[in-house]
Amino acid sequence: MKISVIGAGNVGATTAHILASKGFAREVVLVDILEGIPQGKGLDMWESAPISGSDTLITGTNGYQESANSDIVVITAGLARKPGMSREDLLAKNTEIVKECTASVAQRSPNAILIIVSNPLDTMTYVAYKVSGFKHNKVMGMAGILDSARYRSFIALELHVSVEDITAVVMGGHGDTMVPLPRLTTVGGVPLTDLLPKERIDAIVERTRKGGGEIVGLLKTGSAYYAPAAAVVQMCESIALDKRRVLPCAAWLTGEYGLKDLFMGVPAILGKNGVEKVCEISFNDEEKALFMKSSEAIRKTMLEAQI
Ligand code: APR
Repeated sequence: MKISVIGAGNVGATTAHILASKGFAREVVLVDILEGIPQGKGLDMWESAPISGSDTLITGTNGYQESANSDIVVITAGLARKPGMSREDLLAKNTEIVKECTASVAQRSPNAILIIVSNPLDTMTYVAYKVSGFKHNKVMGMAGILDSARYRSFIALELHVSVEDITAVVMGGHGDTMVPLPRLTTVGGVPLTDLLPKERIDAIVERTRKGGGEIVGLLKTGSAYYAPAAAVVQMCESIALDKRRVLPCAAWLTGEYGLKDLFMGVPAILGKNGVEKVCEISFNDEEKALFMKSSEAIRKTMLEAQI
């Protein structure tokens, strides 16, 4: 298993680091345009291998040749948000960057599965899909695991229980219109709605929607990376080990949920072929309306990207 990570910034480098610690990849290649950065970070990580006991070889480079024949490519290249910016504010610049990176990757790793992280997520995944020409099951975006993890972490804090026992899914676009689903959230099998009053659940949902912005507001110099990187690694692991985990991610819809021709956050089975299947949930009217509103927001950004 060879995994390349394009962009050796906060998300990319953290992803490479966690990948190495997990050890399921034989090789991780970090690619970035900044001279010395991917090489330096890659070498530093490799030098930690004798201590961590990982034989995953990490290297860094400014070219794409070393990424050739990757099984999975994670694209994190692009600008990150600063305070006051929405993910959509990154659209023009990141479209150019993701286009360029995808073309370079697709040419050298024609059989790879692409996981996109750059924002605005759903639209950048669409850009990578169009530019690569890959089948839709081999292109996906990382957002749902992150949004769900934020939601689960807030519930664990509120209830003072283990994060492990909270099962939840956040769907829709990766932005203010995302759709957390309290009705389907359980804590060790107990419905969340039996454990918390509506106003507390609403507050957690709102904090989840603004979770990325909360981190940007605190960091001031960039956006979140520990939780995003952990989410990417969970997707890589399910694909690399063909675990067929059911994980929320931005997948291409072909009629599921009554929608088609867009990437949107839905629960999907991730295995050796990428998105093996999109799982459909029966929504109530309120959930359906939120999901549809979210799809409209994604389509608007897709149009603005002019792909
Ligand atoms: N090719 C390769 N790398 C590039 C390119 C390119 N054409 N353009 C920019 N990069 C690199 C930058 O040099 C930088 O090292 O992408 C890296 C981005 O790193 P950070 O600025 O630290 O941003 P990060 O926090 O990692 O976020 C990256 O992921 O979560 C999203 O919104 C976030 O779009 C952003 C992306």
